[in-house]
Amino acid sequence: MLIAVFSLAGAPGVTTLALALAGTWPEPEPVWMVEADTSGGDVATWWRLPVWPGVVDLAAASRSGQDHETVDTMACSQVLPGGLRVCAAPSTADRTAGAVGLLAQNPKVLKSDRVAVADLGRVVPDAASSALLEAADVAVLVASGDVAHLKRVREAAAGLRTRCLRLGLAVVDPSRSSAEISEAVGLPVWAKLPQDARTAAFLQNQGEVRRPHRRPLIREARALGRTLAEQARSTTTDPVDPTVARFLGEVP
Ligand SMILES: Nc1ncnc2c1ncn2[C@@H]1O[C@H](COP(=O)(O)OP(=O)(O)OP(=O)(O)O)[C@@H](O)[C@H]1O
Ligand SMILES: [Mg+2]
Repeated sequence: MLIAVFSLAGAPGVTTLALALAGTWPEPEPVWMVEADTSGGDVATWWRLPVWPGVVDLAAASRSGQDHETVDTMACSQVLPGGLRVCAAPSTADRTAGAVGLLAQNPKVLKSDRVAVADLGRVVPDAASSALLEAADVAVLVASGDVAHLKRVREAAAGLRTRCLRLGLAVVDPSRSSAEISEAVGLPVWAKLPQDARTAAFLQNQGEVRRPHRRPLIREARALGRTLAEQARSTTTDPVDPTVARFLGEVP
């Protein structure tokens, strides 16, 4: 299963949320957080890890057979001190963009034996971002709650939904209700992320918190994970919407 987490602009906390989601994934399947942000990764720097094994190795593995269904995820990842498995990217775009481009050509490697929570960074209408969004079972767009940001989301919403039908918002510190935002931008609000700098710092290895599972950001990430798991399950079990099926020519 592939869960995509991305933004359109700014730095609203995509990498932080992807770590929190993967770290609190509510279902029993194994999970990993994959940095597929073409502008480069942060996790290795934050956690003082080497960048290998990581996304460059995953991309190389994806090349060795264009129709790979599975890949040795252990050989392409490392484990953070708390136990979360991560597939980290080099910190610079020049070293990461090529690897993400390769992954985009064979995104099935992200749908192997583990749930992949993939940080796509800022999605722009390029081939790599589009292909990874299209491959996602469910996608979460992280947006700050300010008006300018939500206007950008509204303008992009229809185009994004053509790439991933199961698309929802995680809005950071919104001043309006979920229903109002949803109505205004045309996407469901799946999470309202609290400002929680201490937990964000904790996820970035920059500070300790007592009882992390009680922190507001972690609780919201866990609730969002439940929504995503439900959404992803319905992707695999729901029959195709009849209107869409007719449009696709699957119904006479
Ligand atoms: N919920 C939050 N509350 C407070 N601060 C946060 C929260 N989430 C993230 N931050 C802080 O915001 C900054 C950006 O976070 P992060 O790197 O996760 O964003 P990003 O969207 O991945 O950015 P980029 O596009 O540059 O990769 C960091 O300093 C992080 O500590
Ligand atoms: Mg990031």
